[in-house]
Amino acid sequence: MTKDLSQTFPSTRLRRLRRAAWSRALVSETRLSPADFIWAIVIREGDNMREAVASMPGVERLSVDQAVGAAREAKSLGIPALALFPFTSAKERSADARLAFDGNNLMCRAARAIKDAVPEIGLMADVALDPYTDHGHDGFLEDGEIVNDRTVAALVRQSIVEAKAGFDIIAPSDMMDGRVGAIRKGLDAEGFERVQIMSYAAKYASCFYGPYRDAIGSSGVLRGDKRAYQMDPANSDEALREVAMDIAEGADSVMVKPAGAYLDIIRRVKDEFRMPTFAFQVSGEYAMIMAAAERGFIDGDRAVIESLTAIRRAGADGVITYFAPRAAKLLGA
Ligand code: PBG
Repeated sequence: MTKDLSQTFPSTRLRRLRRAAWSRALVSETRLSPADFIWAIVIREGDNMREAVASMPGVERLSVDQAVGAAREAKSLGIPALALFPFTSAKERSADARLAFDGNNLMCRAARAIKDAVPEIGLMADVALDPYTDHGHDGFLEDGEIVNDRTVAALVRQSIVEAKAGFDIIAPSDMMDGRVGAIRKGLDAEGFERVQIMSYAAKYASCFYGPYRDAIGSSGVLRGDKRAYQMDPANSDEALREVAMDIAEGADSVMVKPAGAYLDIIRRVKDEFRMPTFAFQVSGEYAMIMAAAERGFIDGDRAVIESLTAIRRAGADGVITYFAPRAAKLLGA
């Protein structure tokens, strides 16, 4: 940051650099490219099915064959990776989340099919029990508490099952203490030392996850809220402690979530740790832009690019976003 006080009007006119598109292009500080995106998709059972998610216009739950199509589309658009999230019906859920450890569950079948058809696309698996528990929490519930250590042991099992299916990035989104170290140890013991861990390190207890819970079938079952394990939106120093611990435990990259309302956290994390830093533009951020654009209150295409550019400018190396294909096309991919 220059502190040169000789920069005064009228010898200095900052508008000179902004006058023409060619000049704006030259002085642009932040570049957005399809290579910055991880495309978040929601998958479901069935064949040749695409099912609209009411609270996320334009997002559909995709059966495995359609998810393979999405992977092909990602490849042709230059999007390097997909993040998969499974819709699970109430009757497939249980207190012990047993479906999470089934190597033939929807996530694993989808990973195998995508890796078979489009092996060069990176695949990220969310690790947490919320798609599988009958109460919609990310861990096991005992006497009204989400218990930590028993949950961590289960997350290790879930991670190994997902790594075996072909996922390249294990992304724990549960916010239990100590899970990154335990997962790293578990993966290595099974010969998966090549598999990355992207930690949802600073994940806030946010209202902006509402549409996602609808998308994966959790909203109907979720009891209470997640404030006993996800972070308080009022906190910032605590995010640095979370990130520091996850790095010490072996995270390859870290994530801040949500993104748009937490740009200050992204900047602090990037400045403090200089780690590969990602941000998740979550379902509610997606839904707000879509809803406002639908009503003509804002220009949707511009909001997509501006929001993603802001997240990159704040310090994110990449963004997990439902807008990935739309943004890639807008960028001319
Ligand atoms: C669950 C999980 C959530 C999201 C990703 N993984 C929601 C939650 O914590 O309740 C949110 C994604 C989104 O809102 O787009 N572990």
